[in-house]
Amino acid sequence: MADVLVSLRYLSRDFHSRAGLFGERRVLRAVNDVSLDIATGQVTGVVGESGCGKSTLARLVLRLLDASGGKVMFDGIDLGSLPARRLRKLRQRMQMVFQDPYSAIDPRYSIREALLEPLQVQGIRLARGEAAAKVDRLMDVVGLSRKMAEAYPHQLSGGQKQRIGIARALILQPSFLVLDEPTASLDVSIQAQVINLLEGLKTEYGLTYLFISHDLGLVRYFCDRVVVMYLGRIVETMPAKNAAPRHPYTRALLDSNFEPDPAKRRVVTRLSGEIPSAFDLPPGCAFAARCPRASELCRHERPELIASANDHSTACHHPIDQQ
Ligand SMILES: Nc1ncnc2c1ncn2[C@@H]1O[C@H](COP(=O)(O)OP(=O)(O)OP(=O)(O)O)[C@@H](O)[C@H]1O
Ligand code: SF4
Ligand SMILES: [Mg+2]
Repeated sequence: MADVLVSLRYLSRDFHSRAGLFGERRVLRAVNDVSLDIATGQVTGVVGESGCGKSTLARLVLRLLDASGGKVMFDGIDLGSLPARRLRKLRQRMQMVFQDPYSAIDPRYSIREALLEPLQVQGIRLARGEAAAKVDRLMDVVGLSRKMAEAYPHQLSGGQKQRIGIARALILQPSFLVLDEPTASLDVSIQAQVINLLEGLKTEYGLTYLFISHDLGLVRYFCDRVVVMYLGRIVETMPAKNAAPRHPYTRALLDSNFEPDPAKRRVVTRLSGEIPSAFDLPPGCAFAARCPRASELCRHERPELIASANDHSTACHHPIDQQ
């Protein structure tokens, strides 16, 4: 087993809401009892449909959001136990790339200002020449012209913006990047370029990635390991290459990946049946209402995630046999 950089143990996160203005208080467990080891230097991919808890998990991993239960260990340090100042310092080593890198940035910032902002947040002061050299170098690294640093977000294409999002995440020289659907809003050809860029950066700087996507085909191509989530829980983990899914949900996701238009992929699955409400999960397997293999047992008893041969774990009472 490779070295582990980030370790999640029994991680959960609840969101509270009310049904209507004076209605009953309800709890939604967006991430439910997730344990996972993220290997150093590898790409771990998390895949699942919209709402299954991927972004919540991403934010928990970086402690941008507090957990309701469980813990995150980064390089052996329990993030939950760190005082704010030490956490901020440690954040230099872990950064996030968002689907839309400019949703969080003031559009009045030039690219140069946006790139240098993480240094300011960390209280790192650079001489003017040093800052300029850093920006030039980052623009080279992500394959953009240096002149573009004077532009403003609205002047950039989607692919260029995402390159800036990646450059911004790299300025503090992190070892770990969480990439939350970094290519989901891009055209297929641009998506491929950004994936190639990420692949090159990983090799060059020895980075570790947690890569989040709803596209199992992309995750199998780009990642070393696949983690499949369904309604807040991990239902399967396996090597990305040369492993056939054993969980019926993963199988269905794989069958649904032939839709070439990424804008449509999110909603295309061959699954029928209702997704249970995350507020009111059934007692057994959460996938039972949509699963062609469901039995009485499935409807009453929740399957645990169980390891089988070849680094493969599945949470299913009737997994698909491997050929
Ligand atoms: N701040 C919040 N308050 C209340 N509920 C939330 C909050 N953030 C997320 N949720 C709920 O938690 C669940 C998981 O959401 P999350 O954004 O993590 O899913 P996701 O897998 O990233 O989906 P997508 O593919 O659409 O990005 C959803 O049911 C969502 O409505
Ligand atoms: S436990 Fe049963 S319902 Fe759930 S995925 Fe497996 S076969 Fe389907
Ligand atoms: Mg999301």
